[in-house]
Amino acid sequence: MPVPMVGRAAALDELRHAWERVRGGGRCVPAVVTGLPGTGKSTLAAAAAQVAAPELTLAGSARLHSPAPYDWLAAVLAATGPHPQLPVPPDALAWLAQDPDVPRERYTPDALLRLAVTTVRTLVGGRPAVLLVEDLHALDPASLSLIAELAGADLPALLLVTSRPPDAAVNPVLAVRALERLAGAPGAVRRHLSALTAGEVGQILGHVYGDSPPSRDLAEAVWRRTGGNPYRITELLAVAGDRENLAGQVRERVELTAREREVLGCLAEGMSNKQIAGSLGISVRTVTVHVSNLLRKTGAVSRTEAALWAVQRDLPADARARTG
Ligand SMILES: Nc1ncnc2c1ncn2[C@@H]1O[C@H](COP(=O)(O)OP(=O)(O)OP(=O)(O)O)[C@@H](O)[C@H]1O
Ligand SMILES: [Mg+2]
Repeated sequence: MPVPMVGRAAALDELRHAWERVRGGGRCVPAVVTGLPGTGKSTLAAAAAQVAAPELTLAGSARLHSPAPYDWLAAVLAATGPHPQLPVPPDALAWLAQDPDVPRERYTPDALLRLAVTTVRTLVGGRPAVLLVEDLHALDPASLSLIAELAGADLPALLLVTSRPPDAAVNPVLAVRALERLAGAPGAVRRHLSALTAGEVGQILGHVYGDSPPSRDLAEAVWRRTGGNPYRITELLAVAGDRENLAGQVRERVELTAREREVLGCLAEGMSNKQIAGSLGISVRTVTVHVSNLLRKTGAVSRTEAALWAVQRDLPADARARTG
């Protein structure tokens, strides 16, 4: 079952408004979505592109393992070609499309950059478009210059950029510079995606397992196990399969002392603190300390819940065996 997108409504709204500004104003509006790996940047960008439903989307991303000049544009050209009508010399176009047989020397970097901007402008052709740039952190320097140039262009486009933090970039200094130029453009949108909260993890569980509300404990355990990272949550749910399995996977090993296990056994028998003290030959005050440690370690909110926790794990029998 696909995991629904949760916790990103405000970000999606902001991107929707940015798109409305593009349609109303005709200038390029950069929208930069940053976040650690797997925080849902691509998912949000795809949702925003879907909401915008533009007539034209130009999408591309870097080749993660061997970035080459103009990777983004080459991906766009490959997806939209052939382009006999572009007002760009064929050999320059072949270079921008990464045709391996074309010599570069005829064009300076500046000239190529201008031709790249012209290419994008012509492809857009005045229609409000979404330009989707995935994984800016992995882009080559020429693509970074092009993206930064587009951010300030008189172009009816939502320039939707995703990026991991620049310290993870292939060219950290250039990535920072490009991100700054994007963020500095008039009307730019900047969103940093954080991990999901335990409550949002609960929403995902409720959707996937179809029960509402899902147990808070389970949601918190999944949240702790995954750090609220959507990718890790998705992976965990895929591996775990059904709900019981998931609960088993995220149950944490709780280390109890021998005495705590005895006290827990007594709690499961329904004994009061005074009875426990009498049974174990310790003071009521000591029992109170053990009980409060038990609540903390098991995550239970009451002695009844702690007793239930013990019963679910067959601990009372175990504890009884110890106490003889
Ligand atoms: N808001 C969300 N709610 C629920 N699940 C999500 C959310 N965002 C992303 N996911 C899920 O998490 C996984 C990773 O998301 P995504 O690929 O969008 O992350 P990313 O930030 O683009 O990662 P990367 O840095 O690797 O590009 C996907 O399977 C997606 O379905
Ligand atoms: Mg991504």
